[in-house]
Amino acid sequence: MTASTSAPHNHRYDGLILGASLATLDCVDGYGEIADAALAWRDGRIAHIGPRAALDAEPADLAATVIHADGWITPGLIDCHTHLVFAGDRAREFELRLQGASYEAIARAGGGIVSSVRATREASEDELLRQSLPRARALLADGATSLEIKSGYGLDFDNERKMLRVARRIGEILGVRVRTTYLGAHALPPEYSDRADAYIDAVCEWMPRLHAEALIDAVDAFCEGIGFSPAQTRRVFETARALGLPVKLHADQLSDLGGGALAAAFDGLSADHVEHTSLDSVRAMAEHGTVAVLLPGAFHVLRETKLPPLQAFREHGVAMAVATDCNPGTSPLLSLRQAMQLSCTHFRLTPEEALRGATVHAARALGLVDAGVLRVGARADFVQWDIGHPAELCYWLGGRLARRVVADGRVLVE
Ligand code: NIG
Ligand code: FE
Repeated sequence: MTASTSAPHNHRYDGLILGASLATLDCVDGYGEIADAALAWRDGRIAHIGPRAALDAEPADLAATVIHADGWITPGLIDCHTHLVFAGDRAREFELRLQGASYEAIARAGGGIVSSVRATREASEDELLRQSLPRARALLADGATSLEIKSGYGLDFDNERKMLRVARRIGEILGVRVRTTYLGAHALPPEYSDRADAYIDAVCEWMPRLHAEALIDAVDAFCEGIGFSPAQTRRVFETARALGLPVKLHADQLSDLGGGALAAAFDGLSADHVEHTSLDSVRAMAEHGTVAVLLPGAFHVLRETKLPPLQAFREHGVAMAVATDCNPGTSPLLSLRQAMQLSCTHFRLTPEEALRGATVHAARALGLVDAGVLRVGARADFVQWDIGHPAELCYWLGGRLARRVVADGRVLVE
């Protein structure tokens, strides 16, 4: 595999990659394969896709940079659910859980999310960035070109703002697309103990102020016995709707509180986790186009056994996305490809479903209209993999398969 850049010249394309097989995913079924392909881009957008043999001129005359490749090229992966900005870790809590303590019991005893809140509050913005960047880099190195990053370990105005600012800075520093999600309603901070409704007032009051600083792309909440009630979640969503912000929800992870239907009622982009989601919620999600985001990392780490209603999602045409849920408690997972692998082993997704889940459907879960697919006009976000078939993306556990990661036509990893 070689890359060559020619002298300035009036080229049709900025870049052209030749010889790999493409999984365009620009189709309803299958990978949308184009063997021995040519993929070209200009101004950060895909400008040409087709078989190499059909190129109408010499590659060097067509593009300033010509790359000869092998293996497969897929759309850049999209990690549509992460909490990767946090300080410290919860390895000790992992040990406690292995000894039998439940996630809920640890949370009720003041550990869990609140312990990450303590560490995150103590870190300066620069320190939080320093600790979080390597996690984003790891996701990028394994093929992610777009990341969603949630707040939710600050739980007061200044610290939620600090987290969202760090998320934005990660996007700028790494050149990946970052969509920020305001998750003020993640847990009850200690200063509001027994005053959940007053805390929700505060979360709603901070929202327009953070939005005024362009720090929020979407709004999320943790609707759960150890989180917030459906009524409290609804108040957060109503505030989001008044600001024109899309919503998504940590829904039905540990119990069925009707989270899927609640997200759908607000035309939510996604309902995430969804292990306990009911058939009524599945129907509502189908009706409103709400994506089911599967988080097999949390399922795996918490040793869950209740499977999401996968067949009902398929039968009702609810799109299933796959994400890492990268977070210090339930899913310290730094590879979206590994999440795809876990979605196949635990949820029996097909490798094709898993790849769509981490590209096309993940894009929908973030409201991205021009990513997750290889199509003329879409963003020039793609990954060249050292594999002989796309199923290998879900087959190998660990290792390094991404040979080259390109976002907006810029090579980020090679
Ligand atoms: O998606 N469920 C709530 N939020 C995270 C866990 C966060 C944490 O434990 O720190 C999740 O699993
Ligand atoms: Fe989460």
